[in-house]
This record gives sequence, structure tokens and C-alpha cells, in this order.
Amino acid sequence: MDLITKIRKNTSALHKATESSGFIKRLSDINASNESYAEYLFNLSAMYKAIEDTIENNSSNETVRNFVTKELFRYELIQKDLKFLVGDKLESMELLPSTLAFVDKIKEINKYEPELIVAYAYTRFLADLFGGRTFAKLLSEKYEISTDALNYYNCEGIDDIRTYVMNYASKINNMNLSKELEDKFIVEVNNAYIYNLAISSELEAKLY
Ligand code: HEM
Repeated sequence: MDLITKIRKNTSALHKATESSGFIKRLSDINASNESYAEYLFNLSAMYKAIEDTIENNSSNETVRNFVTKELFRYELIQKDLKFLVGDKLESMELLPSTLAFVDKIKEINKYEPELIVAYAYTRFLADLFGGRTFAKLLSEKYEISTDALNYYNCEGIDDIRTYVMNYASKINNMNLSKELEDKFIVEVNNAYIYNLAISSELEAKLY
């Protein structure tokens, strides 16, 4: 069985849990406020910064070098959205403890096992590729968020999402990890879901 198939089998229940609970569920059910969406986005931006900086720091690593996918990077785009949505208040916003824990985890990966950053990149970036257009439509139509604040979902630079995802999956399969590192990689994809789940649950508990 190839690595991507192992990952999909291993994470399908966690994926289901992530999409059907916490703040993500509120947002999908059109049961969240625009302020809470901004707070969610603020926490996401810190996650992307940690992932993207770690990829760039390790761009000469044999494994990581194939995943310097600038077309997927979201930090700068989300900053634009936040400037539009919250303006100067951005300076005084505080990250959730779950997000701080995530950032800390990524620092450890950067230091000790940079290959594993790909597990976090895969989880966030593919989530965006699969769900991005649906969320952009929902936010625009149901929450009436201006297109000026929907830069996050911009997929310029990717012609065909299906083909792109297939190529991304092949790159995962061709990472050539040792058995030990491959097992760790699968664990880290699970961890990526667990952090995403925690951030979504904590935000919901804090806001409602
Ligand atoms: C309402 C929320 C969500 C919905 C409706 C949703 C739905 C989907 C769907 C339909 C797919 C494609 C599955 C396929 O074609 O086999 C997918 C893939 C994926 N989603 Fe989600 N998702 C949601 C949230 C998330 C979240 C929060 C994460 C993680 C942070 C996530 C991570 C992923 C990943 C990594 C894949 C790619 C799996 C693969 O094919 O390798 N999703 N999602």
C-alpha cells in the first residue's frame, strides 16, 4: 500500500471528526458570527506562518525541497483578509493556547525532524484545495463577506485542482522515507488533525 493510501485510511475518521465538530461545524452550518470567523482566521494565519517558515528554512533538505509550493502558501493572503476584517485591532488580538501549542510543535519539528513538516503542510494545504471554493462561496453568500476579505481562498497559479492534488499525492509517495520515518510521518498527520480539531473546539468553547 502506498503512503498516501495509508494516510487516507488512517485519518478518515479524524477527518470526519474535524469537519463535523467545533467551530468548523458552526461555520458550515451558518451558525457563526463574522467576528468569530475573523478570530478563526487569525489563528489559522499563525499556523500557516509556522508551516511556511519551516518549509522555507529547510528548503535545502532533500525531502522538504519538493514541497516549497509557494502557490499554496496562505499567510500573506490571510493577512490581507484580516486587515480588511479587523484593521488595527489585529495588533491586540491574542492566539488561542491550542494555536500556541501548535506553533511550539512546529518549532520542534523545524529543529529535530524537518521532513515531518510535510505532514502538516499536506493536512492544511490539501484541506484548502478541497474545501476552499465551497468555503469562499459560503462566506460570500451566507455571511456576506466582501471579496476583499476572501484572498485566503485564491487559487491563482493552480490551473486544475484535481491534477495538482494528484501530483502532490505522488510527491508524498515518492518521499523515500525510511520505515521508521514513514511511521512517524503518519503519526504526524494524525497530530496535524488533532491540533486542527483542538483549535476548532477551543474556539467554539470560548465563543459560545
Ligand atoms: C466542513 C469542513 C470540511 C469538509 C466538508 C471537507 C471535505 C473534504 C472532501 C470532500 C475531501 C475530498 C475527499 C476525496 O475526494 O476523497 C477532503 C479532503 C481533505 N480534507 Fe477535508 N473537509 C473539511 C475540513 C477539513 C479540515 C478542517 C481539514 C484539516 C485541517 C481537512 C483536511 C483534508 C485533507 C488533508 C484532505 C485530503 C485527503 C486526501 O485525499 O489525501 N478537511 N475534505
